[in-house]
Amino acid sequence: MSDNITTKIESGILYITINRETKLNALNIATLKDIKEAVLSIYENKEVCGVILTGAGAKAFAAGADIAEFANFSIEEGKQLSSIGHFKIFNFIENYSKPVIAAVNGFALGGGLELAMACHIRVASSNAKMGLPEVSLGVIPGYGGTQRLAQLVGKGKAFEMIVTADMINAEDAYKWGLVNYVTTQEELLNKCFVITSKISSKSPVAVKTAIKVINAGYNNKQNGYEVEIEEFGKSFGTGDFKEGVAAFLEKRKAVFPGN
Ligand code: COA
Repeated sequence: MSDNITTKIESGILYITINRETKLNALNIATLKDIKEAVLSIYENKEVCGVILTGAGAKAFAAGADIAEFANFSIEEGKQLSSIGHFKIFNFIENYSKPVIAAVNGFALGGGLELAMACHIRVASSNAKMGLPEVSLGVIPGYGGTQRLAQLVGKGKAFEMIVTADMINAEDAYKWGLVNYVTTQEELLNKCFVITSKISSKSPVAVKTAIKVINAGYNNKQNGYEVEIEEFGKSFGTGDFKEGVAAFLEKRKAVFPGN
């Protein structure tokens, strides 16, 4: 892996930091692939319960896809960039079996905001600025932004943000439901840690299933309600369910086997 990102595992959490500070952590293809590889590396690791993703420095989470990289792309190359981004990276993160939390520590623009929106939970520091400014460049969001922004803030605000290319501040992002919490920059990673730690005390099988079922409702090839019925039923066959219920009845803390 290159130095586009840095990673560390601490207290059962994988921390990924996008490490292109001089380019405001702009997401070239290599960086996106490195993020995916890092996320994938903990798939089988039962000791690691989730991921916190942030950007290096005090200024940016990620200021977008790397404009220099796609400046001379053809129509076909543009389509491929978007398609690989969707299917190999952004959808992968959205559907990942462990929670991925975006610690939005500054600018999250274009592909940077799209990456944050593919994560399950977003926490922003008060200096953060978010937007999808692609129309200023003569393109549109291509990593799921037109869809996920509307899902998070509603169609009206999504239209406004995308067609004006305006950035919004952390407070508005919170009011509109784009981020779950706003903290100071100093508190940001700790807030993400607290959320991830809380999730780590729950059944990993149920958490994985909940992610799958919530996402099913946003997939037009699936009926989320039917997937819920199916997966709810399956829960009764898991070791985590047996342990969770036994622990409740015995008035003790559950120790989930994760199966
Ligand atoms: N792709 C490639 N490089 C980028 C980038 C991006 N998305 N965003 C910032 N950079 C680079 C700049 O080119 C500059 O590099 P340089 O020092 O080699 O010239 C460096 O990061 C710092 O950016 P700069 O513009 O000087 O910082 P600023 O504080 O004046 O402005 C922004 C910050 C975020 C407002 C501005 O960088 C910007 O508008 N970035 C592009 C945002 C965007 O359109 N994203 C969507 C892409 S599809």
